[in-house]
Amino acid sequence: MKLGFFGGGNLAASMIRGLRARDASGEILVHDISAERLEYLRSAFAIRPAPAAVVAAEADVLLLLVKPHQVAALLEELRAYDLSGKLLLSTAAGVPLHAYTSRLPGMAPVRAMPNTSAAVLRAVTGLAAGAGVTPAQRESAAAIFSALGKVVWVEEAEMNALTALSGSGPAYFYLLTELLAAAGAELGLAPATAEFLARETLVGAGRVLEAGEESPALLRERVSSPGGVTLAALDSLGADGLGGAVLRALRAGAARAAEMEREYGARVCGKNS
Ligand SMILES: NC(=O)c1ccc[n+]([C@@H]2O[C@H](COP(=O)([O-])OP(=O)(O)OC[C@H]3O[C@@H](n4cnc5c(N)ncnc54)[C@H](OP(=O)(O)O)[C@@H]3O)[C@@H](O)[C@H]2O)c1
Repeated sequence: MKLGFFGGGNLAASMIRGLRARDASGEILVHDISAERLEYLRSAFAIRPAPAAVVAAEADVLLLLVKPHQVAALLEELRAYDLSGKLLLSTAAGVPLHAYTSRLPGMAPVRAMPNTSAAVLRAVTGLAAGAGVTPAQRESAAAIFSALGKVVWVEEAEMNALTALSGSGPAYFYLLTELLAAAGAELGLAPATAEFLARETLVGAGRVLEAGEESPALLRERVSSPGGVTLAALDSLGADGLGGAVLRALRAGAARAAEMEREYGARVCGKNS
């Protein structure tokens, strides 16, 4: 299966790195505006730089890895080619599936939302399939995105909640790490030591979660002995309303994602949608 990338930026580079780790020689075509970027990808990953027309004609799967505001122009450009039956994978946040089907009828679109942990090939990517995507194409889409980490299928209606949770999620854990480091420093630790402790604690807890043997709730309960230090701190977080704050934060993120979906849907389709 020949893959054709439109957009050779940060995410494309991570994805190609993940794909190359599995298959060092499969042909990967890339079209990007920047010749310099293409030269970097060619020398780093042995991709074949190609004009849009060649990628559109030769690739079985088209990957649209451009910014959301660049999608309308790219789809307009792609309308010149016969792409019917091809699988289209797009990571543009907020661009709804109907925008692809209305601009490129006959293509089989899958909308994908990875996160920035793609940079270390540890993303989790939400995938939503549009009309006309066959079971074999779903398998291909999942296999391609698993080069970046884990994948999960959702309905498109769940995409805004997923975006707020895992799409934006790395930032919440970075914030928590910052806050723990600042609080540790406030309590008297050297700032560098506090940051080291916060960072390593997050990474270690992540590894335990990754082992996947117990639920997060059980793991938390196990470290919360009655009358102990952890429970005193967790009770304080509960009294300060952490659970409600997290729910409100995800609601705000999902609401913004829904607004963006309306905005980009209208922009790509050229009408209110
Ligand atoms: N990076 C992540 O971890 C991540 C996570 C979740 C979602 N995403 C989404 O994935 C998409 C790609 O992200 P990114 O970080 O890789 O963005 P990026 O680094 O800006 O890469 C996009 C590339 O596409 C090029 N481009 C723009 N229009 C094009 C066209 N018509 N034909 C060919 N190339 C074109 C851009 O050139 P110029 O720079 O000249 O415009 C740029 O090199 C975005 O929609 C982003 O929101 C990324």
